[in-house]
Amino acid sequence: MDSIRIAGGKRLTGTIPISGAKNATLPLMIASLLTEETLTLENVPALADVKLLGDILGNHGVDITVSGKRSGEDGRYGKRFGLCAKEIVDTTAPYELVSRMRASFWVLGPLIARMGEARVSMPGGCAIGTRPVDIHLKGLEALGAQISTDAGYVIANAPKGLTGTRILFPGISVGATHNVLMAAVLAKGETILENAAMEPEIGDLATCLNAMGARISGIGTHTLKIEGVKELHGATHSVLPDRIETGTYAMAVAMTGGDVELVGTRADLLQSAIDVMGEAGIEITPTNNGIRVARNGAGIKPVNVETRPFPGFPTDLQAQLMALMCRAEGVSTIRETIFENRFMHVQELVRLGADISLDGDTATIRGVETLTGAPVMATDLRASVSLVIAGLMAEGETIINRVYHLDRGFERIEEKLGRCGAVIERLSS
Ligand code: EPZ
Repeated sequence: MDSIRIAGGKRLTGTIPISGAKNATLPLMIASLLTEETLTLENVPALADVKLLGDILGNHGVDITVSGKRSGEDGRYGKRFGLCAKEIVDTTAPYELVSRMRASFWVLGPLIARMGEARVSMPGGCAIGTRPVDIHLKGLEALGAQISTDAGYVIANAPKGLTGTRILFPGISVGATHNVLMAAVLAKGETILENAAMEPEIGDLATCLNAMGARISGIGTHTLKIEGVKELHGATHSVLPDRIETGTYAMAVAMTGGDVELVGTRADLLQSAIDVMGEAGIEITPTNNGIRVARNGAGIKPVNVETRPFPGFPTDLQAQLMALMCRAEGVSTIRETIFENRFMHVQELVRLGADISLDGDTATIRGVETLTGAPVMATDLRASVSLVIAGLMAEGETIINRVYHLDRGFERIEEKLGRCGAVIERLSS
């Protein structure tokens, strides 16, 4: 298994290109199941999760082509994918595949909508929490799907098709919104989704579905209105920039007291995180190509933050903010309100010399003057990258094990940080 070695203490300067968003790419790829024609996605990041979802969709019969380098591109970032589900040959998503990536559960909605049947493994728990799927299933049932469970599988049938209705989600769920939205676009009549998640990735999916012939309004709000259509057609859509990758590198730059332009991203995708970083004394300014992040000489001020659904502070940046606050001049608190067990990074940060105590859903972080490098490992993607951020300012060498977590969500992280002056390398084993 590969690991990453970082020699801490180098200030980051230069530019970092921001990739297409993982959490937009995954539902967009799944949306290809809704049409016989080709869905072309541009700016697709090269990530382990994208490859795995490609395999999962391939099992349903989706043909995927990946275009090569184009004039003016350096050939490394942002691939163009063609996804064609001309014929769906299998409506089962097996446990072996779904258990490796939870988002693959979202094939359920499109499969019922197009094929009138689906058999999809329940994803099970994971390192950050129990993560049930009740909101997904209630939403699909409201559209008329008959749902039962058997031997760990959700079995859904809608032989006469789905019918639009008003659905009030009992809690805000990104995945349930994606899943039910994709089903509703082919339902008969009108569907209104209330208390829908409004993360930018939902808006990106809805915009792409509209380009495919869907009729969705209310994009960017908690209420989505969908006029069902008989069928969708092919379209071309460019994946929006990754706000979590943006926030992660912003915190890495802030951690090292650096000055970096994050290129190809947008401040409005992560305004709450920018506000928090502003409170912490980090300068963030929009540029023509993205945003510039700088901390020149000033210390890091402590902050008190709770994670919230968009537009609140994202849970997917909680671990990274915690790493940054390990070096703040004072005491910070971070409350995690989305997932009940998303603190797996705490003990690893403590191994690097951080002073963090946990009380239920709240972490109290007392800033320290120095972190010290050590071997560490983490059990999820964002926790792993928080260790990279800490390692960038730890004295000596930090070795991050289980790099496959990072490869799920960060495209060539060692190259992007290395080009800005970090001493970082991948050790293959
Ligand atoms: C998405 O997960 C993201 N994944 C997560 O990113 C992100 O952390 C999360 O949204 C919250 O923003 C992708 O987009 C692929 P949820 P999802 O359904 O959809 C509860 C990363 O690191 N809930 O919004 O699975 C649930 O347990 C990942 O990139 C129910 O109770 O999250 C949680 O407490 C990790 N019943 C809360 O809602 C349900 O049926 C929010 O979960 C569904 C969810």
